[in-house]
Amino acid sequence: MSGLDRFTFDIPSKLRFGCGVMDEIQKSSLPGKRLMIVTGGRTIRENGTVDRLVKLVQPKVDSFVLFDDVHANPSLASVMKGSAIARENKIDVLIGLGGGSALDTAKGIAAMAVNDGSLWDYTASGSGSGKSMANKPLPLIAIPTTAGTGSEGNKTAVITDTDRKEKIGVRTDFVYSAYVDPELTLSIPSRHTAEQGFDAFCHCLEAFLSVKANPFSDVLALAGLKALWKWLPEAVEHGSNIEARYWVSYGSMMGGMVLYLSSASGAHTIEHMLSGINPAVSHGGGLAMIFDAFHKKQADNVPQRYTEVADALGIASGLSETEKADALLCSMREWKSGLGLDRLKLREYGFTPDQVDEMVRMTHWVGGGPLTRDRHRLTDDDLEEILLKSLER
Ligand SMILES: [Fe+2]
Repeated sequence: MSGLDRFTFDIPSKLRFGCGVMDEIQKSSLPGKRLMIVTGGRTIRENGTVDRLVKLVQPKVDSFVLFDDVHANPSLASVMKGSAIARENKIDVLIGLGGGSALDTAKGIAAMAVNDGSLWDYTASGSGSGKSMANKPLPLIAIPTTAGTGSEGNKTAVITDTDRKEKIGVRTDFVYSAYVDPELTLSIPSRHTAEQGFDAFCHCLEAFLSVKANPFSDVLALAGLKALWKWLPEAVEHGSNIEARYWVSYGSMMGGMVLYLSSASGAHTIEHMLSGINPAVSHGGGLAMIFDAFHKKQADNVPQRYTEVADALGIASGLSETEKADALLCSMREWKSGLGLDRLKLREYGFTPDQVDEMVRMTHWVGGGPLTRDRHRLTDDDLEEILLKSLER
């Protein structure tokens, strides 16, 4: 970032946001007649959200298939299974209804229903082949029922090949349109609200800190950070507070868009390594477990952008640059602890200090772009230090 940065805002989707906005799908035309609904969560089946969507869209299509073989840390196997069903049923439009896992699985199916081979052929990360897709993915309508990944607002699907233990992002024009309805998040349990919302906070923070940041991404990143800083603790504490849910959904959507306008950082790469090795690590939980050590390393080397975040969040006015960055780190640790995320320990997920060399190697292997987007480019020694400190927590 030089202060006069070029940027491109290229999100090929119509985003509708607000309470009750899901019902608007009934009035909109769908870009196809043979529909697959991709959904995962038991909660949204049990609370009637899936049935409600079916009632809204069934009159608009000739046929529909419900695909619900979706898992946390969505898998390549699930994407390939869903795309085979989509081909068999000549699906021409998809709706992803659920959390980031459902949306990213739907993205993968939309791509692989019309392209040959494996999704791994179309990524350059890990053991992927880095080919270009011959065909544009099927149109996908995203309806998030959680607030965290912001997947509806960007071009990335994060998928895990559980056999190869690789969790990577695949990028293309995935989302046709989205309905972001905060009312759908009212039933999310407190723990998931915290982990998902923390992911959104990390998107905004990392995008602000990234070397890819620009004046436009800064506006969105700071708007998301302020909304989440104020309202996520309330949404965790009182899940039925619709005002809190509104602003957390808003922060999540800002985070999803700003990831594309700027980028995630090395923290996301380290987390993808962790949950690639052990899929029981939730994405937000993994980010929380390495958060303190990662940001300490960055802030010690390049404090200036941290002081701007401190100013935006109203923390520690009048202090020097270094003092202000330290005060922000301290406040963020307390905030994270207040969300109940300090209970998560890397050791309890089976990671040990003698694995650190392998973890550093795997971080580079799944790496891709984000590792190159930190203002302080992490060395292997830095990665080792961050992982060891995170293991000591
Ligand atoms: Fe994330």
